[in-house]
Amino acid sequence: MIFGRVKSLDAILATAEKKSLHRSLGAFQLTMLGIGAVIGTGIFVLTAEAAQKAGPGMMISFIIAGVVCAFAALCYAEMAAMVPVSGSAYTYSYAVMGELIAWMVGWALILEYAVAAGAVSVGWSGYVVGLLENLLSIDIPDTLVAGPFDGGAINLPAMFIAGLVTWLLVIGTKESATVNAILVAIKVTALTVFIVLAVPVMNSEQFSPFAPTGFIGISMAAASIFFAYVGFDAVSTAAEETKNPQRNMPIGLIGSLAICTIFYLLVAAGVIGAPGLSSQPVTGAAGAVLDPGSRELAAQCATRAAEGFKDVVCSKEALAFTLREIGWPQIGNLLGLAAGLALPSVILMMMFGQTRIFFVMSRDGLLPAAFSKIHPKFNTPHVITIITGIAVALFAAFFPVGQLANISNSGTLFAFAAVSIAVMVIRRTEPNRHRPFRTPLVWITAPIAILGCVYLFVSLDHKSIILFLIWAAVGLLVYFGYSRSRSHVGLGHVDEVHEEDPDAPPQPVPPVA
Ligand code: ALA
Repeated sequence: MIFGRVKSLDAILATAEKKSLHRSLGAFQLTMLGIGAVIGTGIFVLTAEAAQKAGPGMMISFIIAGVVCAFAALCYAEMAAMVPVSGSAYTYSYAVMGELIAWMVGWALILEYAVAAGAVSVGWSGYVVGLLENLLSIDIPDTLVAGPFDGGAINLPAMFIAGLVTWLLVIGTKESATVNAILVAIKVTALTVFIVLAVPVMNSEQFSPFAPTGFIGISMAAASIFFAYVGFDAVSTAAEETKNPQRNMPIGLIGSLAICTIFYLLVAAGVIGAPGLSSQPVTGAAGAVLDPGSRELAAQCATRAAEGFKDVVCSKEALAFTLREIGWPQIGNLLGLAAGLALPSVILMMMFGQTRIFFVMSRDGLLPAAFSKIHPKFNTPHVITIITGIAVALFAAFFPVGQLANISNSGTLFAFAAVSIAVMVIRRTEPNRHRPFRTPLVWITAPIAILGCVYLFVSLDHKSIILFLIWAAVGLLVYFGYSRSRSHVGLGHVDEVHEEDPDAPPQPVPPVA
């Protein structure tokens, strides 16, 4: 019963618009696409969270998270190339493991996309507030620019950016390839400048003690910093447009992950080694390491700042803060400006992904049909975009960035593990189906990806794991209470979408291109 209601792959492929895309992307473009989608709040903001969990040992965390992503990416790419339609992990699971698992994956993807959009909004707020405070020499009260767990009451700038991006999506804004290329250049330049200024002045004594919280701390930091790599699935979904995908896909995936990992390691080294700063975890009165995003840490940070300590872990704009403290205040501000300009495109991409997943689930009958209503003028799924936007704005207003990133990671890890299982199942059930890209050594690669996802999942903080489990339980209630009896597959509807079908998706172009 659990694996019943499989949607046939042929029906899925027929459902998708039969427009054959020009194979134009080479290894270089794919790598750039990956870098553009991946670099964001993770490196700009969560470096501080990772330092609070692992101290300088966070460098190992970056490597662990990157390696798990690389294995998952290779599995993702086989499915994406074979089933190049929207809905990603949700759609693959529907074809391979049936409706219930697909529903759970789709439900988990809500965490991946919507909560991640909230996290990036909070990250954006940290940089923009820091920039304004430095440029105008003012002190904006925390009450208005931080959530209740972070020493404030409401994060208004984060709500503002979430609202702005929602509006852009409702009126049908698509990021052009040119805008994307400019934003990638801005992000990469900002990180490069940071490395060039911070790495040469590193003080090796700052790296000691290297792992103040041991391997457990390093694992916990890896589970958080995993967020910094999320987004590479954009590369997998471009499989249909890739020249010689068997060669170029792995280069694009592994290449972008490897380049990001090297950037991340150099940036982390620059932050840790910055003279005069400390990247050791901040402890409470009893000597225990305080939780990132907790009121206790916010209070302890305020006390230490008043005493003249310069703790990276207390900064909401770790990279700009580091540059200012090592004698480059103007460049620090420019880096803040770069983050302020580039991070909204990550929010746009995440919210776009969310509306697309909701759209496909609604088209399959698992969510109300009203969700897929199209705006008569803008031709966008405005209802679901606005609902998503309100949820993202609320997450952004009240929760700390690290907590949101961890919750998002829990959903992403679940989805990645499901795709890694699916890729093995379908090798058995449909061995002869055409695969433009085959996961190398799938019987080794996929199990490693699954184990890696499980390891990172159990290394998340307890709150995130519990929230994930509650979310999954709510998902099951919704499925059995609403979706199961309305599922088009369950009702035996022919699930092909024809061009004149009013439910057909608006065919938006993904914002990363
Ligand atoms: N990897 C993306 C970021 O770090 C989600 O913002």
